[in-house]
Amino acid sequence: MYQRGVRCTDCHDAHSLRLKAAGNAVCTQCHNAAGNPRFPTLRHADYDTPAHHFHPAGGAAAQCTSCHMPSKNYMVVHARPDHSFRIPRPDLSARLGTPNACNQCHADRTPVWAAAAVAGWYGAGRRQEATFAPAFAAARAGRREAGPALLAIIRDPDQAAIVRATAIEMLRDDGEAAQSALMQARDDREALVRAAAAQALADQPPARRLYALAPLLHDPVRLVRIQAARSLSTVPLASFSTAERRAFDAAFAEYMDAQAALADMPATSLNLANLNSLRGEDAAARALYARTLEMDPYLVPARTAFASHLSAAGDHAAAEAVLREGVRRSPDDGGLHYSLGLLLAESGQLAAAAGELGAAARLQPDNARIAYNHGLALQQLGRRRDAEAALIRAYDLDSGEPAYAYALASLYLQEGRRESALRYAERLLAAHPDNPEAQQLIEHLRRGQPQKPGQNR
Ligand code: HEC
Ligand code: HEC
Ligand code: HEC
Ligand code: HEC
Repeated sequence: MYQRGVRCTDCHDAHSLRLKAAGNAVCTQCHNAAGNPRFPTLRHADYDTPAHHFHPAGGAAAQCTSCHMPSKNYMVVHARPDHSFRIPRPDLSARLGTPNACNQCHADRTPVWAAAAVAGWYGAGRRQEATFAPAFAAARAGRREAGPALLAIIRDPDQAAIVRATAIEMLRDDGEAAQSALMQARDDREALVRAAAAQALADQPPARRLYALAPLLHDPVRLVRIQAARSLSTVPLASFSTAERRAFDAAFAEYMDAQAALADMPATSLNLANLNSLRGEDAAARALYARTLEMDPYLVPARTAFASHLSAAGDHAAAEAVLREGVRRSPDDGGLHYSLGLLLAESGQLAAAAGELGAAARLQPDNARIAYNHGLALQQLGRRRDAEAALIRAYDLDSGEPAYAYALASLYLQEGRRESALRYAERLLAAHPDNPEAQQLIEHLRRGQPQKPGQNR
């Protein structure tokens, strides 16, 4: 509605916050059979009728807000009605586990039940578009099909800016299409989208990063300027032209001001710690990470960032201590178990690593990468049956990732199970005809010669 020009003051008095009309009348200002001339795209229809909402008129379930603005408690006690005005989608809840307005009241029924009711009421023409939810769920689970779906969202001008900016944040793709989408996003009309692009482009090599982000140092919106400055803060200063250097210094000073204004927040301290880590200021980074965790020992991103800083500096024991403390405090955080598992594997503590990766896999059963790393650790421990199960799980979750099929083929080859090895090698080759490892593997298998491929792929 915001994108079509609806504003807070269409429903609220700007000073008292009072609603401009009582009950459903606040919505039927616009959503009625005659429409509203200010909004030409509105569908003219009567919604305040059981023919739309299928519940007895006048009851709580016939309130527009019950289905389109369900409340959720903020900070435990404060109910806030959802101002994103969404269509209830119990079908997505059934697929993805997202909440929906129907089951908020019908808590004793399943989303599948609610989805069937919606399908029965509205028929084949009902709203079943993908929305951003499946793409974000796939991205959070680290699945391959997320990439193209995220790109489509980033490029879709009908999506809200915050949705497109979130898609940019989630994009883990450095292919040609992703690069060009990010460069387009850099010049977007929406500041949130430009700021997200400024952050995402921080992964570019320094020269390209400077080329891409120098123009944003002059952006009219401060958020964009400081995000660009932050992303450019690890480009060697000698590469800047005089004018670029001046713009960078000004924007970087704004960034530091913004941090200083929020100095009591753990997130600020974490930002500065990460910045010092990126710039190679080891002592300052360590002090700031430690201070962040003192302020909030449950801030998981601070823990994982501190641990990866320590481990990059070769201080595995300290990194391990930081993560173990995190796992002790937040035993249900799969991400922490995963980081700890990877760290232990790196320092050769395989049995302990497999334990942590197994815990992570149990807590995040839809994450293919975790299942894969768990499988590799089990394989190295000689627990082949368990390794096989974990690798098959990774492959089933994301069959497009060449590493998973390759790992399975290698495992079967190691065991002399030629036929199974060949099956996965052929799938790998079918999906990636140009993959040289797949070609080699197939050749060896077909010739019947034993070959031992590397295990750490
Ligand atoms: C389409 C109508 C509509 C629009 C537009 C709208 N609101 Fe609301 N808002 C509501 C309704 C309905 C409620 C629920 C009131 C209730 O249940 O008493 C509400 C409740 C609120 C509340 C009270 C939440 C609480 O703490 O109880 C706040 C604050 C609020 N809106 C702020 C805003 C702001 C800010 C904007 C613009 C960004 C906005 N609203 C736009 C309809 C709207
Ligand atoms: C000032 C006019 C106005 C008011 C008041 C208003 N809406 Fe809307 N609403 C719109 C417009 C415009 C659209 C977009 C229509 C389009 O282009 O498809 C829309 C779209 C919607 C949609 C569809 C969203 C989607 O994903 O397609 C829902 C649901 C909705 N409104 C619910 C409500 C509810 C509930 C209220 C009352 C709390 C309300 N609206 C009040 C103007 C209004
Ligand atoms: C019991 C739940 C429920 C109630 C109450 C409800 N709706 Fe809906 N609404 C839905 C569902 C479900 C859809 C999706 C329908 C579809 O898929 O065709 C929808 C769709 C919409 C849409 C978007 C589709 C379109 O026709 O453009 C608008 C706008 C809307 N409702 C407005 C309202 C208004 C205004 C009220 C209050 C007078 C209201 N709704 C009350 C469940 C409800
Ligand atoms: C505010 C709470 C509320 C919301 C939201 C709500 N319902 Fe209901 N629903 C009720 C109540 C109460 C009844 C019983 C109404 C009656 O017959 O007196 C009911 C009845 C029903 C029934 C028929 C009785 C049954 O249990 O078989 C169906 C089906 C149903 N709702 C589906 C839905 C679906 C689908 C949605 C979301 C689009 C939804 N409801 C949203 C409260 C709600």
